[in-house]
Amino acid sequence: MKVVAISCSPRVGGNCDTLVDTILNGISQNNKDVVFDKYKLSTMNINGCKACYNCKSGSGCAQKDDMQLLYNKINDADLIVFASPIYMGHITGTGKNFMDRMFAYMKEDFEVTLPKGKKAIIVLTQGHRVESAYRKVADDLINFFNSYGIETISQIIAAGMTKDADNINKHVIEYAYRVGEKVAI
Ligand SMILES: Cc1cc2nc3c(=O)[nH]c(=O)nc-3n(C[C@H](O)[C@H](O)[C@H](O)COP(=O)(O)O)c2cc1C
Repeated sequence: MKVVAISCSPRVGGNCDTLVDTILNGISQNNKDVVFDKYKLSTMNINGCKACYNCKSGSGCAQKDDMQLLYNKINDADLIVFASPIYMGHITGTGKNFMDRMFAYMKEDFEVTLPKGKKAIIVLTQGHRVESAYRKVADDLINFFNSYGIETISQIIAAGMTKDADNINKHVIEYAYRVGEKVAI
């Protein structure tokens, strides 16, 4: 199984990182045949889409930045773990750049060119204590993945998260581990 984890948080060792690592632990401790690639978008050079429509000519995205690496990894992945903190009610800007650049996997008529059968796990962390406060963001991500034929198999929403990663509720950590464990088996 090939797993690509994408964190949209700029914080090293923050809440998203902790939960992504916990999911990856849950997978790797239960399946030794897993290959992981973990990326932090904030350390990469991923521009916004320039709307040149070069990708509709069949020759891929014209921008030769770090998204090219992610195109290859996503193409080969069985599972995508996508994590973002909530910033001003949405995922982060780097995360949105990534989403926009996925346009390259659609033809002019929106037919998807990405291989089918991929799965996704969504992780959202937020300061707001009410878990459902940004339900729409999770739903938008599910729809986004769905439009590429990617099925979201789990969503982890960690509410009431401050900048201190050690405040993550132990039940959320345990749940993240179990989510990983479940996909590994
Ligand atoms: C620029 C910025 C904007 C934020 N906006 C929100 C927000 O709109 N709603 C919310 O609940 N939390 C908000 N937060 C809090 C973060 O979502 C929360 O602390 C999150 O767990 C951080 O995740 P990380 O440690 O993975 O970076 C914001 C934090 C920052 C730095």
